[in-house]
Amino acid sequence: MSVFSGVARPVILAAARSHRLRHTVERVPATKQVVHRFVSGEQLADALDSVVLLSNSHRFVTIDYLGEDVVDTDTADRTVSAYLGLLDALGAQSEGMPRPLEVSLKLSALGQALPHDGDKIVLENAHTICAKAHDLGIWVTVDAEDHTTTDSRLSIVRELRADHDWLGTVLQAYLRRTLGDCRDLAGSRIRLCKGAYDEPASVALRDRRQVTENYLRCLRVLMAGSGYPMVASHDPEIITAADTLAGEFGRGTDDFEYQMLYGIRDDEQRRLAAAGSHVRVYVPFGSQWYGYFVRRLAERPANLTFFLRALAERH
Ligand code: FDA
Repeated sequence: MSVFSGVARPVILAAARSHRLRHTVERVPATKQVVHRFVSGEQLADALDSVVLLSNSHRFVTIDYLGEDVVDTDTADRTVSAYLGLLDALGAQSEGMPRPLEVSLKLSALGQALPHDGDKIVLENAHTICAKAHDLGIWVTVDAEDHTTTDSRLSIVRELRADHDWLGTVLQAYLRRTLGDCRDLAGSRIRLCKGAYDEPASVALRDRRQVTENYLRCLRVLMAGSGYPMVASHDPEIITAADTLAGEFGRGTDDFEYQMLYGIRDDEQRRLAAAGSHVRVYVPFGSQWYGYFVRRLAERPANLTFFLRALAERH
């Protein structure tokens, strides 16, 4: 385990939960320049511009309206309205499969942590968004947050799938439970990622090599299943393995997809799309970018160095 992943990464991820630090970072002008490497912008129009640019290079998109850990119903309601507005703006899609347009949701932004009836409220809110997405032919995938929310998320997704069997969700390869979850859910649309939160060793693998190996085990289960695997990783080893596994299990280009984050390995995204693979880019937008941004800094020491240098140059 490197010094970065062992010491610095947990410290940076802890910063994602600090309101004081958030207040300070959001007010430094140089921050926004670095944020815009990972976030399409604060307005819906910024996200729509990114959709056009990415579609022009034959990439699919999934759009995330930024926000998490909502603790009041008004904010949760505003999040639902923002998603309905986003879906309206995206408009009706063709009937083809796979769907080129998707939105990604965080249940904590829809009220999962509300003190009273959180699970009931989040189910209703997610259902409203899914019903509209269904009418327009747009997919929805539910993001994975920290491990304390996994059971509740998977049970809410299971309930929603009774009406919307196309609904996808995310599994995180660093969690020890995930191989079992892959076996249970291999018949549905699953986005497999490594995992971006600071989790204790009791529930998560903390060694990078072990996480990659578990990812490959999980991906094999998904590729062997009857669902639609979404290979969410920028790691060259995983991208190569996905191609090999797809061949082994007779999956064509329409039977799985690669996914990467906005602003990360753009050349590789273009290369895969130009070679005929489906590549979906996760495009976040909105003013609540702090938590997302800090997780991107924590993934890579070079990002943090770049950010700190940008701050220093401005002072
Ligand atoms: P790894 O971290 O080993 O990176 C491989 C290479 O990719 C690096 O060497 C570098 O070149 C590049 N790279 C990776 N991260 C970078 C960064 N931040 N900046 C610059 N370069 C970088 N997590 C989660 O917990 N819940 C979720 O719901 C999601 N959702 C999600 C959707 C999609 C579409 C993607 C691609 C990822 C997620 N993630 C996520 C994040 C995921 O868990 C993970 O933290 C990152 O994808 C980084 O892991 P990689 O597999 O890319 O490997």
